[in-house]
Amino acid sequence: MTAAPFDRSLVPPGLLALDLEAVAAEFGTPLFLYDEDALRARAREYVAAFGADTVAYAGKAFLCTAMVRLVADEGLHLDVATGGELHVALRAGFPPPRIIFHGNNKSDAELAAALAAGVGRIVADSEDELRRLEALARESGVVPAVLVRVTPGVEAHTHEYIETGTEASKFGFTVSSGVACAAALRVARSPHLELVGLHCHIGSQIFVVDSYVRAVRVVMDLVRELDARGVAVPECNFGGGLGARYLSDDPVTDVGAYARLLRDAIASATKAVGLDAPPRLMVEPGRSIVAAAAITLYRVGTIKQIPGIGTYVAVDGGMSDNPRPVLYGAGYEAFLPARVDEPRDLGCTIVGKHCEQGDILVAGARLPADVAVGDLLATPATGAYGYSMASNYNKVPRAAVVFVRDGVPRVVVRRESLDDLLRLDE
Ligand code: LLP
Repeated sequence: MTAAPFDRSLVPPGLLALDLEAVAAEFGTPLFLYDEDALRARAREYVAAFGADTVAYAGKAFLCTAMVRLVADEGLHLDVATGGELHVALRAGFPPPRIIFHGNNKSDAELAAALAAGVGRIVADSEDELRRLEALARESGVVPAVLVRVTPGVEAHTHEYIETGTEASKFGFTVSSGVACAAALRVARSPHLELVGLHCHIGSQIFVVDSYVRAVRVVMDLVRELDARGVAVPECNFGGGLGARYLSDDPVTDVGAYARLLRDAIASATKAVGLDAPPRLMVEPGRSIVAAAAITLYRVGTIKQIPGIGTYVAVDGGMSDNPRPVLYGAGYEAFLPARVDEPRDLGCTIVGKHCEQGDILVAGARLPADVAVGDLLATPATGAYGYSMASNYNKVPRAAVVFVRDGVPRVVVRRESLDDLLRLDE
């Protein structure tokens, strides 16, 4: 990052056009502010690139009632990873047949809830789960559509905590050892389960898209092996993972190019392994739909200059609303909404209000040198895995979430009150 002015392209124009001081005055800080038009535009871009009924939004990136309704409205499917996400989706009225139920350790109660709701697909993750799912399905009389999650043994070139396609992953059935094939055969042969396809998610925040091509090849070899044993695999879901642009230097990701890459890889693998027709392709983007659509607004509360060391600019949130810098060393940028285009001569560290030295929001930030206590400060690209991973650490109430449509802001998740912090205490 340089002293050059902030890169406006990191923020949806609809948010920069707002009077952000007025928004902060009305709704308070910290505040997650989403441009609903940007969310819808990205969802439509995905549907246009991949086709109707082939895109599931991964709710773990950001989920609330308004988001569920937006996803339903835009005709996407929804990936839920826990009974909690399933509950939110159902309560918001999402059509169960368009829900994909994930998780590496689903409880019996979660599996039973998914069966009772009639979710469209359950992604089987382990032998143990398959045994339990089969028993529950037999009891309930529902024959669930099952995808078998496979680990192709492919590196995704991302942070190790969010890399899930290697053989060391806790997710899914390993392809190379034959366990994945055995699991798919077991599902196909069970009268209580219906094999709908294979699922493969190699990781998140991926820019090296060649990793997808390698994963496609491994999965398609398995499709051929199953085909040779008389088992059809109608669908292959290649998960999510496309990177989001957090920093000015990050590449702009192109959903159309990503769709072409996956489709071409499947087409050529279909030919190479000698299958008649390619399986139906599905994807499950989370971050690349929501990350760039939001900013977080904070208020600067104190500025500390330590001679010979540097400057800390402390804001009224921190690792409780954005743990990604602490967890993954993730980088963000920052700007002062009142002075977006001014030179940023001050190098500083933007920190939160938590009792941890590691409570850093932006390391190596650049701000106008006259940043002052009371200023409004914003961090762009905070729409994914921020609110969804928020905590009440230090009993800090969780921020509110506001959607802006056609220039009009509305609260979609209210700010927690101090009393909310006590609502579960006996
Ligand atoms: N499908 C499955 C099965 C997944 O596990 C995930 C993400 C996705 C789809 C969506 O991936 P996306 O398109 O959002 O990359 N908390 C981490 C990210 C964890 C990703 C977990 N799984 C972070 O903040 O970077």
